Amino acid sequence: MVRDGREIVSSVVASQIALHAAHGGVVPELAAREHLQAIAPVVDAALRPLAGGWDDLDAVTVTRGPGLVGCLLIGALYAQAVATARRLPICGVSHLAGHVYSAWLAEPVLEPPFLALVVSGGHTECIELVAHGEAVRLASTRDDAAGEAFDKVARLLGLPYPGGPAIQGAAVDGDAGRFPLPRTRLGNAFSFSGLKTAVRYTIRDLPAAELDGHGVPGSAETVSALAASFQHTAVAQLVDGLEDAVERTGAQTIAVVGGVAANAALREAVQRRFAGLRVVVPPLDLCTDNAAMIGAAGWHRLRLRGPDPPGILVDPSLVEFA
Ligand code: KG4
Ligand code: ZN
Repeated sequence: MVRDGREIVSSVVASQIALHAAHGGVVPELAAREHLQAIAPVVDAALRPLAGGWDDLDAVTVTRGPGLVGCLLIGALYAQAVATARRLPICGVSHLAGHVYSAWLAEPVLEPPFLALVVSGGHTECIELVAHGEAVRLASTRDDAAGEAFDKVARLLGLPYPGGPAIQGAAVDGDAGRFPLPRTRLGNAFSFSGLKTAVRYTIRDLPAAELDGHGVPGSAETVSALAASFQHTAVAQLVDGLEDAVERTGAQTIAVVGGVAANAALREAVQRRFAGLRVVVPPLDLCTDNAAMIGAAGWHRLRLRGPDPPGILVDPSLVEFA
């Protein structure tokens, strides 16, 4: 629940990590079923701090895409039902715009133009928010998203889902220099599948005695070294790409948002590389998926474009940043 689009009144997140960890990744049908079970209790919990409950609401915003269609439909139908029953304006918002606007929640005085690096499980995008409601795409990934690469490499290393935090943890004591990995950049585009494959081949080429029965490195030291080298290279690729966009646009302010922005090595590298610029990296709970960011993006959208007609249309492959 957000007030004036910028003040978080409540933020309730129903995590599905335990459910999906058992399968090593997200199972769409299970995600939708869990979403359906969680949505009403989560909204009730989010309303609890409001003295007037439902009566205190002025508008409803909901994620329209991108994402898993089953989950998007459940959210859109629920939001539409609330808006109809309470006669409230409703507005469908892009999940990616939500991530961009998490920077604004972290620093509500932030005004465009600014650059945003959006790094999540499904996306790696560098955009310029030219004005509220207007974004230009500067670079994206040609293949895997950064978070996807963390998740896939974690699997190769026998680490649990989600891979990002697991790799970050394993990398702490790892010798990043033991297995040097190549950096990839394709023109203006990011690319992570080559890096993932390089990790795969490095593991394949380890002496047989180093691998367990599942082809995973058996020694914690080797896992840590590979995790550290992968994280180091992935972070370098992201920061190099962002630097390139800064040079092209002359941006003075940059934001790094999305689940991968929770990565400590990335947060540190961005602060170091762009020490002369204004750098916004939201607190961890605003980097990973949350509803507050959808409220913030929706507040701007409602102000600029007014409400949507009834019957929000979901779009699983929506690409929209503002
Ligand atoms: O934005 P998000 O919560 O969900 C999507 O929109 O995808 O991002 C999830 C992604 C996952 O791939 C997860 O492994 C990654 O963010 N992630 C991290 C960290 N925490 C989450 N990646 C690297 N380091 C982390 N600490
Ligand atoms: Zn996300």
